[in-house]
Amino acid sequence: MQRDTGGYTVALAASMQHIFDAKAGQTFFATSDIGWVVGHSYIIYGPLIAGMATIMYEGLPTRPDAGVWWSIVEKYQVTHMFSAPTAVRVLKKQDPSWLSKYNVSTLKALWLAGEPLDEPTAQWISQALQVPIIDNYWQTETGWPILTLANGIEQQTTRFGSPGKAMYGYGVKLIDETTGEELTQPNQKGVVAIEGPLPPGCMQTVWRDDDRFVNTYWKSIPGRLIYSTFDWGIRDADGYHFILGRTDDVINVAGHRLGTREIEESIASHPNVAEVAVVGVADNLKGQVAMAFAVPRDATGLDDDAARLKLEGDVMKLVDHQLGAVARPSRVYFVNVLPKTRSGKLLRRALQAVAERRDPGDLTTMEDPAALQQVRDLVG
Ligand code: PRX
Repeated sequence: MQRDTGGYTVALAASMQHIFDAKAGQTFFATSDIGWVVGHSYIIYGPLIAGMATIMYEGLPTRPDAGVWWSIVEKYQVTHMFSAPTAVRVLKKQDPSWLSKYNVSTLKALWLAGEPLDEPTAQWISQALQVPIIDNYWQTETGWPILTLANGIEQQTTRFGSPGKAMYGYGVKLIDETTGEELTQPNQKGVVAIEGPLPPGCMQTVWRDDDRFVNTYWKSIPGRLIYSTFDWGIRDADGYHFILGRTDDVINVAGHRLGTREIEESIASHPNVAEVAVVGVADNLKGQVAMAFAVPRDATGLDDDAARLKLEGDVMKLVDHQLGAVARPSRVYFVNVLPKTRSGKLLRRALQAVAERRDPGDLTTMEDPAALQQVRDLVG
């Protein structure tokens, strides 16, 4: 993709001031992989433009132990920290005492981006660190947050499950995917789209392929020339948005359209679930059924078939109760680790392929190939 670097600088300077309330001399720690857009924007350019110190740390959050990030915060008196929900869920599986071992009182807030932040995870880390957790929603294509709470402009209350409100510069609209009409009432579900022009910092075209840029991003909604994020969302009466997953993460169970994200959120509310991925798997009878792969917080005793089936049953009952029987996963498999990219995105497509006994295709971005083998062994 192609961005203009002047605009990129302007956007990041604005974001440092208004989103992060950053001051020269403070210290920023983005735990991202440097090759990911969060690494470009918030390990390198943003903090340096704002006159801050920035911490570059390459490594897992659990090596040599699960206190490594907090020891860095203490040692360098980090004021601003930026990470991803997936990393927090990894930490949630570790002994919670790691979080109280270090003095993290210099932290003003923790910003998280990159995937849906489920409420239990947000609550857990917020309580552990005693700082506000600020979810922000954006894309590689935009380079800086589309939805966030801009506390550097005005303090706003966090609503768990919501990355907040449209950042200035972004004309965020919710659009009916079939009619192309804008949805203006609260709580209507539509495609999250952005009216042109995009603000500074965003991609301006696909490298040497203007047609592809226009056709892919601007013409996916019938009858409208508008930038599509390919995410579903709703906006409540106060302007807080909720992201409901990718437009291609929808499954169809016996004629009911369900977002895999909603089912994941429900399963994640079980106290013994640290992380979960739900995929739609082809089914002769129902078209598709939901299948869940969950990482338990505490796997003790789960080698025992009866204990595992009991937990599986409990999780199914929870989904029945919260979303209705149609959303109940056909199976809940328990795994040690979910297949992810190095930047922590769930590889749902690979999971789905393996669950349907198909070839998962190109896996070069996968962090841990053993994760898929475990799924293969389970689904048989
Ligand atoms: O689906 C949305 C999800 O991640 C996508 C963008 O991924 P990437 O290009 O890797 O962006 C990284 C920069 C943060 C989005 O289209 N996504 C990102 N942030 C959130 C999110 N989904 C829910 N909540 C978020 N805060």
